[in-house]
Amino acid sequence: MIQLAIDAARDAGRFLKENVGRVRSIETKKGEVRNLVTEIDKGSEARIIRAIRSRYPDHAILAEESGASDAQGEYRWIVDPLDGTTNFLHGLPVFCVTIGIEHRGEIVAGVVYDPNFDELFTAEKGSGAYLNGKRIAVSENAELINSLLVTGFPYDIAVNPDHAVEHFVEFLKEARGLRRLGSAALDLCYVASGRLDGFWEVNLHPWDMAAGILLVSEAGGRVSDFHGERMSVYGRRILASNGMIHEEMMRVLGRHP
Ligand code: IPD
Ligand code: CA
Ligand code: CA
Repeated sequence: MIQLAIDAARDAGRFLKENVGRVRSIETKKGEVRNLVTEIDKGSEARIIRAIRSRYPDHAILAEESGASDAQGEYRWIVDPLDGTTNFLHGLPVFCVTIGIEHRGEIVAGVVYDPNFDELFTAEKGSGAYLNGKRIAVSENAELINSLLVTGFPYDIAVNPDHAVEHFVEFLKEARGLRRLGSAALDLCYVASGRLDGFWEVNLHPWDMAAGILLVSEAGGRVSDFHGERMSVYGRRILASNGMIHEEMMRVLGRHP
């Protein structure tokens, strides 16, 4: 199954890269002006779903653009065919394809493919996390002031959900640096590989996080909600870190509960 996820993510990633600058149709979703979808998001998703269906016709699929499938098997594929749509539209090469595989409610495998750097992040439950086949691990930074953090803003940021703006300002003052890359799945991969030390965001969806959460856990990091409780891919507030700065990050988030 993970090999199929890898092949499908690579194929979809190549398709995305070929289509940078060629978007013809841009629509908004849920009436949100910043929440965009293109025919390329949909084309990428169609390729991935075709690949899954051809091999595992009875598996369930939850994909960002087409929603939940009718099939309700033990396995569920959770798919974001293009994470980083806004970057993609602007020709900024920070986007990826991400696929998680859930078995009886637990994420057992995850794949994230970045076609711009040709980086493939993979993890299977209990077997570690890998970047292009080499084992990866989270960083060993123990203090927030020495840490490089990343976050993202939900499309409804104008209403400042869950104090997202205040949290951003607090971390600006507490950390070494703060980045906003525009792809939650890559944010999580970069925490898993030690390039970044911590990540938080509100209002993400299961397809943004399914693979990335497993990658961070398998790389030795910690993933929770803002209170340190277990974080499901269906949760709303995610905090992911190398583990060492987790409590410090929770304290900062706790200033604006
Ligand atoms: C978005 C990206 C972004 C995050 C948004 C997501 P999309 O996904 O992951 O980094 O801040 O909340 O919705 O729409 O490009 O698939
Ligand atoms: Ca996404
Ligand atoms: Ca997407």
